[in-house]
Amino acid sequence: MPTLVIVGAQWGDEAKGKLVDALGDEADVVVRYSGGNNAGHTVIVGDEEFRFHLLPAGILHEHVTAILGSGMVVCPKGLLEELDRTRAARPNLGTLRISAGAHVVFPWHRMLDRLEEEARGENKIGTTSRGIGPAYQDKVARFGIRMGEFVHPDLMPKRLREVLDVKNRLLALMSDGAESLDFDEVYHEYRTYADRLRPFVGDTEIVVQDAVARGDRVLFEGAQGALLDLDSGTYPYVTSSHPVAGGACLGTGIGPRDIHSVLGVCKAYATRVGTGPFPTELDNELGDELRRVGKEYGTTTGRGRRCGWLDLVALRQSCRLNSLSGLVVTRLDVLSGFDPLQVCVAYRRGAETIRHLPTNTWEIGELAPVYETVPGWPEDLTGARKFEDLPETARAYLWMIEEYTETPVAILSIGPDREQTIVLRPDLIWG
Ligand code: GDP
Ligand code: IMO
Ligand code: MG
Repeated sequence: MPTLVIVGAQWGDEAKGKLVDALGDEADVVVRYSGGNNAGHTVIVGDEEFRFHLLPAGILHEHVTAILGSGMVVCPKGLLEELDRTRAARPNLGTLRISAGAHVVFPWHRMLDRLEEEARGENKIGTTSRGIGPAYQDKVARFGIRMGEFVHPDLMPKRLREVLDVKNRLLALMSDGAESLDFDEVYHEYRTYADRLRPFVGDTEIVVQDAVARGDRVLFEGAQGALLDLDSGTYPYVTSSHPVAGGACLGTGIGPRDIHSVLGVCKAYATRVGTGPFPTELDNELGDELRRVGKEYGTTTGRGRRCGWLDLVALRQSCRLNSLSGLVVTRLDVLSGFDPLQVCVAYRRGAETIRHLPTNTWEIGELAPVYETVPGWPEDLTGARKFEDLPETARAYLWMIEEYTETPVAILSIGPDREQTIVLRPDLIWG
């Protein structure tokens, strides 16, 4: 039963998409288990660049069944645009399936996302404005419209009328009467999306369960990152779903013993988009330089990512939260020329030294990182194809990560292309 979860081990954008594509060739089924089109997963194949927001990145492999799991919230318009765009570039995609239990993102979710952010004022989260939080709010309130209802010709208008009535009252309240939605307009637009999506929607949980039972290779594609998890992240500066590896169970129909390997993707440094504590942030010229060299701009929103040194304390916490089998260290090439490097190995809180991220987010904001300074390397790493090709200082950097986190580095990425991937521990990939 070889199954693998690929999870973001930091604050997202760790290059999960690249990895899922690189390993997708070996998979039979690839399932996204959380989030929606707040995600942006980049895959580079030769001269082509694909940016996936809702489709599992594994769909580029024709033999793969690519599933949008029940833990997701799906914007039908965004999904269809993405499908059309990807099909135009690649007519022979894998087979798409969408869980009838996935929740649908509607225009009022996006409107409420914006209005809620405005209401938060200076405490705004810096969301992706894709309506993600409000869509999950409806799910938890047991008021959301799921894909199964959405593509049902009779149920859809009934549910839409019921929900829109309440949402219009809420929109009016939050916008001083300025905003509302017309039932006929929304219905006519969304009915056409439902008609197109109907053939893909069904009971995907049994598809995943049967694949696991048969011993097929099933890859669970994480979105966001563990430190953005609703429960385990830096609340309230988090997303509204469960990006942690455990989310693969919540959002696809399997149980914990069905997972055999968990690989946590982490950058060789750290980035974060949006608001929230970030102890190792470099809010200075060095941070600007990392952003420039690493082209650290969001795949979904185009926003500049906040950049900083590698935080081994946060990473070790993430290794534990996700019970990682191994780490995938990406973007090591970006650090070439930065010398010396600093790595956070503890935090100072007053006179106290601690080695975990406190649960209270305001306490994280008060921490001072304790750095270890290590030598960098001037060499370009993008041509390396085996561990031995790396300069000694780069190897030492990786050993330091392994030692501190007590987690082996299974894969190394030294560029965005598929072949810029060095597998160090093949035994950790499929468990
Ligand atoms: P994801 O959300 O985790 O899939 O990551 P994103 O796609 O948002 O951001 C990762 C970016 O890094 C993309 O532009 C990738 O093409 C790029 N990338 C992936 N791996 C590497 C690497 O090892 N080195 C460099 N320089 N870029 C990489
Ligand atoms: P991938 O899958 C990086 C961040 C947003 C914001 C917070 C809440 O590409 O790694 P939301 O719109 O989810 O309510 O925003 O979460 N965020 C991400 N940051 N990568 C992502 O996805 C993200 N998805 C959400 O920037 O801080
Ligand atoms: Mg991304």
